[in-house]
Amino acid sequence: MRLAVLASGNGSNLQAIIDAANREEISGSVAVVFSDKEESFALERARRHGIEALFLNPGHYSHREAYDSDVVYLLREREIELVILAGFMRLLSPHFVEQYRGRIMNIHPALLPSFPGVDGVKQALRYGVKVSGCTVHFVDEGLDTGPIILQEAVKVYDNDTEESLQERIHEVEHRLYPRAVQLFIEGRLRVEERRCFIDEE
Ligand code: GAR
Repeated sequence: MRLAVLASGNGSNLQAIIDAANREEISGSVAVVFSDKEESFALERARRHGIEALFLNPGHYSHREAYDSDVVYLLREREIELVILAGFMRLLSPHFVEQYRGRIMNIHPALLPSFPGVDGVKQALRYGVKVSGCTVHFVDEGLDTGPIILQEAVKVYDNDTEESLQERIHEVEHRLYPRAVQLFIEGRLRVEERRCFIDEE
């Protein structure tokens, strides 16, 4: 299966997915990495692995819909079947979601529906929760509101900083995201209303 990863930042989740594909734990390949930030290290990671790296400057577009329809065009041109958001810090327009409904995933560094949006780790720490974690979910029109595929808890310690908690959440993310992608590829994810069920092998 041809995968696209959309990322704005460091791309450690992208790296985890590339590595899992290389180990054949994912039976698909990252065909393209796309970013809205030219300096995103995710683009560099893609190039290092011989994967096409695309940057589209949102500053050159007057509105989100126009930008997103170019992204969708590029994805369709490359026959992408699953769109993986990995630290892609833009809300997708309804047009984008409609074009790829049920075939867009996102990872979020908190136990949704708590602490959606930006700075999920900081929000959780400031709130004072004892347990946070990460969530892989399908993307719908809302902000981190789509059906939850996988979720795992991470304990918060008294001496945690945003960085230390982030680091432990990242470790879990790097395990969880490739697993969710492979479940999708195997056709084992079934969504009924808000609930996502994992079919037995
Ligand atoms: C990840 O922790 C991901 O959960 C988060 O951005 C980070 C990207 O890290 N995403 C969000 O906050 C989305 N709302 P990475 O670039 O190293 O993969």
